[in-house]
Parts: sequence; structure tokens; C-alpha cells
Amino acid sequence: MSPIIRFKDVCKYYRAGNSQVTALSNVSLEIQQGDFVSVMGPSGGGKTTFLNCLGGLDSPDSGEIYLKDRLMNRMNDGELTELRRREIGFIFQFFNLMPTLTVRENVELPLLLNHSAKVKSKQVHTLLDYVGLLHRARSFPAELSGGEMQRVAIARALVHRPSILLADEPTGNLDSENGIKILELMKKASVDFDTTVVMATHNAQIANYGNCHYEIRDGQATSAG
Ligand SMILES: Nc1ncnc2c1ncn2[C@@H]1O[C@H](COP(=O)(O)OP(=O)(O)O)[C@@H](O)[C@H]1O
Ligand SMILES: [Mg+2]
Repeated sequence: MSPIIRFKDVCKYYRAGNSQVTALSNVSLEIQQGDFVSVMGPSGGGKTTFLNCLGGLDSPDSGEIYLKDRLMNRMNDGELTELRRREIGFIFQFFNLMPTLTVRENVELPLLLNHSAKVKSKQVHTLLDYVGLLHRARSFPAELSGGEMQRVAIARALVHRPSILLADEPTGNLDSENGIKILELMKKASVDFDTTVVMATHNAQIANYGNCHYEIRDGQATSAG
């Protein structure tokens, strides 16, 4: 079976004043469907840049990124948006929930386009139930604990049934007990929803949750088992 994600010689540079920062340096790797991949490495190593390029939030300066054998580099903004909407769910360190929307409305966001009200309502109900937060549907993010906010974010990331879940330091803003609960939930969800997970973390213990490990340091990715 061909890999669900393939990076070939991907480079990404940022300009910082007069100098240039190499955020990704000839990154080549493959990720198989169903994997739970941990991307480890020190702060500033390139993890977020890697996830953003993979998720179509940023684009590489050179090299190729294939998602399900489709070359992302050639896609225009509309095609990339469509790809994200169909294939990708995101989880962030700071949850990134919309403060003025309720829990239910936040989870519904990825479904706003092209779904009937009935389908939306059913999907949102299913996901809120899955993460154990049906009773919080009418709450606002500010009324929730950090762990609850990240569970809402997981429901939102999965509500459109993406094939890939990208998580950038998903436990970075949680205490260790809640962090472990979130990792367990992500691990269970990856099986229940048949989702490939790519998770960035600077913490070796958290990286242990993956079944496949990479390290990204100074923009260079190496397989770590
Ligand atoms: N928008 C940006 N503008 C300038 N430099 C950036 C930007 N984003 C990231 N960088 C730089 O790229 C390198 C990799 O950053 P990042 O991908 O955020 O690493 P990590 O997530 O591993 O901490 C760092 O040197 C960082 O300062
Ligand atoms: Mg980062």
C-alpha cells in the first residue's frame, strides 16, 4: 500500500530581518495509513513548520508533499482549502476555540458548508458524546477547564471524519494528568475513526504514545524508530 503522506526533499525558509532561517531542510519521509506518528525535537527545530506544510496552512519553498498520492504543491488556495476541509483535522496547544461560540457551535464549524442541518446536528451530537461533553454543549469555552477545551477541540477536529489528524503540542498547556487523558483519547479516536495521527511534541514521554517516531532538529528529520 502506498503511504498516506510522503515528503520528498522538502525545504522551508523564513526571513528574519536580514538573515534567513532554515525551518525545514530536505525533509524526506513517509507516513503509513493508521500510524500514530510522534514528531519530537527541541523548540525551534521545525515541528510546527512541518505540521503546517503537511496541513496546507503553509507551503514549502522546494520539494514535494503528497497526500494520498496527490501533490499538494500544485494545488491552488481553493483546492488546498477543500483538501483541508475533507481530509485534515487540527488540534493546537492553545485549543483555538472561538470564544463567542458555544461548545456545540465550535464543534459544528467544520461542517458549516455543504451539510444539511440534520446531518450536522447528528454528527455534532455523536462527537460531543464521544468526548464525554454532551452536557457542556451550551457552555462557552471560557466556562471549561483546559482538559475540557482540548476535548472540544478533538471533537471539532474529527467531526468531518478526516483521514489525518494533526496535533501540535496538544498537551503543552495541560497538567500531566489531563495531558495523559487527552493522549489516551487521541489514541482511542485514531482507531475508532480510522484516522492517521501526526503529533508534534518536545516531550519524550509524550512522544512515547506514538507507534512511529521522528525527530526534527535544525530542520532535519530523522527516523527515531
Ligand atoms: N513565521 C515565521 N517567521 C520567521 N521565522 C519563523 C516563523 N515560523 C517559524 N520560524 C522559525 O523557524 C524555525 C522552526 O520553527 P518551528 O517550526 O516553529 O519549530 P518548533 O515547532 O519545533 O518549535 C525556528 O527557527 C523559528 O524561529
Ligand atoms: Mg512548535
